[in-house]
Amino acid sequence: MSDANPLGTLTPLDATACCGDGCCDDAATAEITHAQLDSITAAVQHRYGNLAENAADRAADPSRRGASDAFYTEDQRAAITSEAAGASAGCGNPVGIADARPGETVLDLGSGGGIDCFLAAREVGDDGFVIGIDMTPRMIELSRKNAADLQTGNIVFKLGRIESIPQPDNTVDLVISNCVIALSEDKDRVFSEVLRILKPGGRFVISDMVTDSPLPEEVRASATEWVACVGGAAVMSEYLGLIADTGFTGIEVLSDEPSRPNATDWQSSLKNLTLRAFKPVE
Ligand SMILES: C[S@@+](CC[C@H](N)C(=O)[O-])C[C@H]1O[C@@H](n2cnc3c(N)ncnc32)[C@H](O)[C@@H]1O
Repeated sequence: MSDANPLGTLTPLDATACCGDGCCDDAATAEITHAQLDSITAAVQHRYGNLAENAADRAADPSRRGASDAFYTEDQRAAITSEAAGASAGCGNPVGIADARPGETVLDLGSGGGIDCFLAAREVGDDGFVIGIDMTPRMIELSRKNAADLQTGNIVFKLGRIESIPQPDNTVDLVISNCVIALSEDKDRVFSEVLRILKPGGRFVISDMVTDSPLPEEVRASATEWVACVGGAAVMSEYLGLIADTGFTGIEVLSDEPSRPNATDWQSSLKNLTLRAFKPVE
């Protein structure tokens, strides 16, 4: 995949860029420059690098803990560090319904501060293993610090891209992801990679932003909307078709709630989708 933005020059980020409800603040986006906007990769790394740096401040302020408060139970929040909660930027709770089992290997695409990895780690136990993949160096640093603070021994966080997952074929029982694939320009490659690394019969459970209908062109070309998981959100029927075309079976929509329930414009088309699918047993 190329780092060049296929949409041409991105319009600048504004201070309200956000992935998931209430996950952003001015400091996260204010100092972006045009030089940093030469690719979607750079814009995403910039935005989530700043989110990682602001995680502690966000955790201390209930008005800025949108995703962790919205999607996770009190018991789940009590099991993670406050910085993992502060960095949380998902649009669902895939681990809550993925039914990770003791001894399984779980891989999280776009692990951020590690929230879903830490929850999966306690489910798979000492005989299992969790791998978090993220392309933003500051997020990887934060997740490793969170793992050290939690003294979690069955997790590794790797710097890498979900379009080229640093993991051997047929080695993972469960792939999870939370509001990340919408940020990728190359979704069919991501799904191919998920199929490659899953063991036969393995499953993936993901939450992601999708839409009911195509987004306006200016929204798709806006860096602000792209880093908010909106500009790159696919039409849900096409997204499910892509997963089926990749070769997955048993595709099941587990929930598809409106992302912006009070919106009356194009934003009313946005949905928080959670789904499960399986790699065929062969
Ligand atoms: C919206 S955040 C979600 C983080 C985490 N899943 C959560 O629920 O808090 C998106 C994360 O995905 C990472 N990311 C985005 N695109 C990526 C890609 N193509 N490859 C690897 N990581 C990516 C970002 O760096 C960021 O940490």
